[in-house]
Amino acid sequence: MLSHRPRRNRRSQVVRDLIAETDISQSHLVYPIFVGEDLSSPVSIQSMPGIYRWDEKGVIDEVLRCRDLGIFSFAIFPAISEAKKDPYAKEATNPNGLVPRLIKKIKNLDAQIVLFTDVALDPYNSDGHDGILKSGKILNDETVEILKQMACVQADAGADFVSPSDMMDGRIGAIRKELDKNGFTETGIMSYAAKYASNFYGPFRDALDSAPKSGDKKTYQMDFRNSKEALHEMKLDFEQGADILMVKPALSYLDIIHQSSKEFDIPIAAYNVSGEYSMLHLAAQAKMINLDQAMIEVITSIHRAGADIIFTYFAKHIAMMKGQ
Ligand code: PBG
Repeated sequence: MLSHRPRRNRRSQVVRDLIAETDISQSHLVYPIFVGEDLSSPVSIQSMPGIYRWDEKGVIDEVLRCRDLGIFSFAIFPAISEAKKDPYAKEATNPNGLVPRLIKKIKNLDAQIVLFTDVALDPYNSDGHDGILKSGKILNDETVEILKQMACVQADAGADFVSPSDMMDGRIGAIRKELDKNGFTETGIMSYAAKYASNFYGPFRDALDSAPKSGDKKTYQMDFRNSKEALHEMKLDFEQGADILMVKPALSYLDIIHQSSKEFDIPIAAYNVSGEYSMLHLAAQAKMINLDQAMIEVITSIHRAGADIIFTYFAKHIAMMKGQ
């Protein structure tokens, strides 16, 4: 006789649901949204089916539609007009710029809504890099000075979590200090702590026209051959006062998500990035997979690996499937 028959616990849907160790719900999802400032109607993003670059008015309706589906958390990514970009990313610290304007409007709609705002220079920088470029080099400390101000402008407008995604050294401590100095002690910091120089950001850069004009991001984003380096980056950001630590991308980095969830006693977020989203859509269009089922499997696996919070372009789709 067999002493163990694990199949007994899989005998029916009810039994399987009863013993399920993880489940995803929209309360753990953050929906990234793209907004353009010189648009009069939404533009669909070629490389990301179902995703739009919203005009300033359209985004408000989209946020409300998502809220009604049970999504309360959003990450805002701006597409700034070319005319406003310069080598010093001046528009990044404009208190009347697109992002601060939107933060105010969205927070006014519903105070329960939680906003994560990107702190990095690439949407504002004519060089397309996350930091200031000079003679072929990204300047670290000069960039951090701008990021500090950028974070305060976003906090002042009402951002819940400023989210540095730039990978400059020392920015979390510098931003925390500047926020506190200016009275924004309640504003959180979600650090893109372990952000890899990934091949999976392509559709996002398409969506925002934010690809670097020269070179790549490998002197600041991490090398995908490393995992100890990720834990080092996360430890530094944890010690400097981050409230949430992110691993990005998610799918090729489930080991990093898992290790960091064991290592740190603060929430871990993972970003299911644009390329990961588009791959699934393309496979479904080619009738190789069932999109609904593959999507749930993918997002559940990120959660199972240890991510408490998942940033995903599938958030709305999942919420529609799950119902309220
Ligand atoms: C840049 C930023 C990127 C993403 C989020 N913030 C792209 C990059 O680093 O070039 C990518 C997100 C995605 O691919 O979905 N600050």
